[in-house]
Amino acid sequence: MYRIKRLDFNVAYACNLSCKGCISLSNDEFKRKGVEPLQDIKEQCETWSKILDPSVISIFGGEPLLHPKIEKVLSLIREYWPQSQIRFITNGYLLRRYDPNMWFKFGALEMQVSIHRLDHEQMITEEIKKIVRCKTGWQAKRTSSGGHRQLELHHDELSVYKSKFKTFVMPYKFDNGKLEPFKSDPKKAHSICGSPDTPILYKNKLYKCAPIANILDLDHNDLYNYEGTEATGDIEALVKMINKPEKICSMCPEQRSHSIDHMKKENVHVKNID
Ligand SMILES: C[S@@+](CC[C@H](N)C(=O)[O-])C[C@H]1O[C@@H](n2cnc3c(N)ncnc32)[C@H](O)[C@@H]1O
Ligand code: SF4
Repeated sequence: MYRIKRLDFNVAYACNLSCKGCISLSNDEFKRKGVEPLQDIKEQCETWSKILDPSVISIFGGEPLLHPKIEKVLSLIREYWPQSQIRFITNGYLLRRYDPNMWFKFGALEMQVSIHRLDHEQMITEEIKKIVRCKTGWQAKRTSSGGHRQLELHHDELSVYKSKFKTFVMPYKFDNGKLEPFKSDPKKAHSICGSPDTPILYKNKLYKCAPIANILDLDHNDLYNYEGTEATGDIEALVKMINKPEKICSMCPEQRSHSIDHMKKENVHVKNID
């Protein structure tokens, strides 16, 4: 069993938003559809809970709230990883579809609500308030680091983080319908990576990071030389390289000049608010 700090677990490909430079390539250009079927999630839980022991396991997408069985997904992850902190990462637009009391029942859950459009922040804050009103005794604090601002709300079994990311680093080049790596110095690229230490479980294989897992799942990716690791593969080799630069990191840019101002309205398209 490998004890690791963080693991992302992909449960959705589609998104109700389209953010330029999305690390999951869930933006409109790539026409991602669907979610990971519940049965496949269960099988992955059965297999990988015997191999990986993450302190924090993040429910990742696309937009996880698009998963029609998200409550069951969270229960499964809790059942198979009873000791891990579960981090549920969402853009928050679809919170209104769910009973706000639901979020207290999984135990040790952190909900990270990413604010992608300042003009919609108030609407999303109202959804967070519905959750907060379910209980008394919350503690609040504000934090800020590296252009990433956060409001933290803590209760016994649930914490809610409202986060704003000022910039997105483009994890690929996309010209004439073809995905292309940057061919950077891996060390430099890794030093500015937004998620340098988090492998992802994606369609029953483990990958160094979310962008490479998603890129390899798309067409026109023949310029990328990487393979996900199966449960029977060399997990130790992958775990040893967590938070270290390696060859595949050359696919990402080594300079921040390839960043996108995420707070500019034109870089985030909301497909459906209702
Ligand atoms: C890929 S999203 C998936 C979950 C959900 N749809 C959301 O937006 O929160 C997970 C997190 O990655 C962040 N993210 C996406 N693309 C990024 C990029 N290129 N650079 C930095 N952060 C990025 C988002 O802001 C979000 O907080
Ligand atoms: S909300 Fe934006 S960052 Fe999150 S998955 Fe959708 S497109 Fe990507």
